[in-house]
Amino acid sequence: MIQVAINGYGTIGKRVADAVRAQPDMEVLGVAKTRPNFEAETAIEKGFALYAAIEEREHLFEEAGLDIAGSVDELVADADIVVDATPSGIGAENKSLYEEYETPALYQGGEDADLVDMSFNARSNFEDAADADHVRVVSCNTTGLSRVIAPLREEYGVEKVRATLVRRGGDPGQTSRGPINDILPNPVTIPSHHGPDVETIFDDLDIDTLGMKVPATLMHMHSLNVTLEAEVDAADVRELFADESRLFLIPEHMAIDGSGKLKEYALDAGRPRGDVWENAIWEDSISTVGRDLYLFQGIHQESDVVPENVDAIRAVLGEADAEESIETTDETLGIGL
Ligand SMILES: NC(=O)c1ccc[n+]([C@@H]2O[C@H](COP(=O)([O-])OP(=O)(O)OC[C@H]3O[C@@H](n4cnc5c(N)ncnc54)[C@H](OP(=O)(O)O)[C@@H]3O)[C@@H](O)[C@H]2O)c1
Repeated sequence: MIQVAINGYGTIGKRVADAVRAQPDMEVLGVAKTRPNFEAETAIEKGFALYAAIEEREHLFEEAGLDIAGSVDELVADADIVVDATPSGIGAENKSLYEEYETPALYQGGEDADLVDMSFNARSNFEDAADADHVRVVSCNTTGLSRVIAPLREEYGVEKVRATLVRRGGDPGQTSRGPINDILPNPVTIPSHHGPDVETIFDDLDIDTLGMKVPATLMHMHSLNVTLEAEVDAADVRELFADESRLFLIPEHMAIDGSGKLKEYALDAGRPRGDVWENAIWEDSISTVGRDLYLFQGIHQESDVVPENVDAIRAVLGEADAEESIETTDETLGIGL
């Protein structure tokens, strides 16, 4: 069994912990937190061993009546791999800790690409992670773009991608984020950082991205225009995407007109936390004009990277090939709406 440490138990970390626990070949060795908040309580209730991410704060957990299994150093030392899901920039600070104990580490999209040996997306470059010690699972937006671009490149060739990303202002729990009544070009400079980030997955791709932020918490929305190398029927693209397990084509009859109903559907379908691990592409929006393909897709920022973290664990440790790992992850989590 692969022993997995999870350092940072917030939006991404707690979801990755549940997903790792669902795998037949992995165990959660423990999770590390800096303070005894509601997430620490939940970790204990779920039976995860709780470690103190900052040694000097260990007494805060004791004062709150929460049992601590040890320090993050001990957790990292005993683990086969660590998933760092701390806030942007903290992963870089933690790198020396992982190096000290020679524990391979996964980082999240908030870290810089040059911190790591490679940037990871399971559908696009799984095999390149073999034997890498420091791997970055790319951001929610880059994951969403890569999953669509990979099959298009393989099937038709891609000349150019233009994507406008309408980004949620914050996650539901992020009370400090905004805007609360505005629409921001964000960043105002063009292209946004998302295009170069996608190029960490496909280094020869021509892509420009524009970003906005809106007062929403549920999901991001991408408006995509891909110029292909061949003229293609929209129906063929729909068929191509239907074969991709992490692309969910929303059929017209479902009458899902936005991210609110998508989340409602995920909750009705029994998804934990209402998570939508797949890209949710409006089937009707898939259109072609000559070599130009257009579509809209919803990206659930809190969860689309979760199966990617699970696959990255197997990729780094050489425990499965891409097909096997993706299939196991999809089956255990119930991916495929
Ligand atoms: N949320 C998203 O939409 C999203 C999507 C894709 C990727 N990401 C990336 O995933 C990473 C984590 O983001 P997130 O949204 O999960 O953040 P988050 O909800 O703020 O969770 C991060 C957790 O790390 C803990 N933490 C803070 N300092 C720490 C330290 N020194 N050591 C250990 N734990 C520490 C915090 O918990 P305590 O201080 O309470 O212990 C916090 O709960 C970032 O790189 C982000 O860019 C986020």
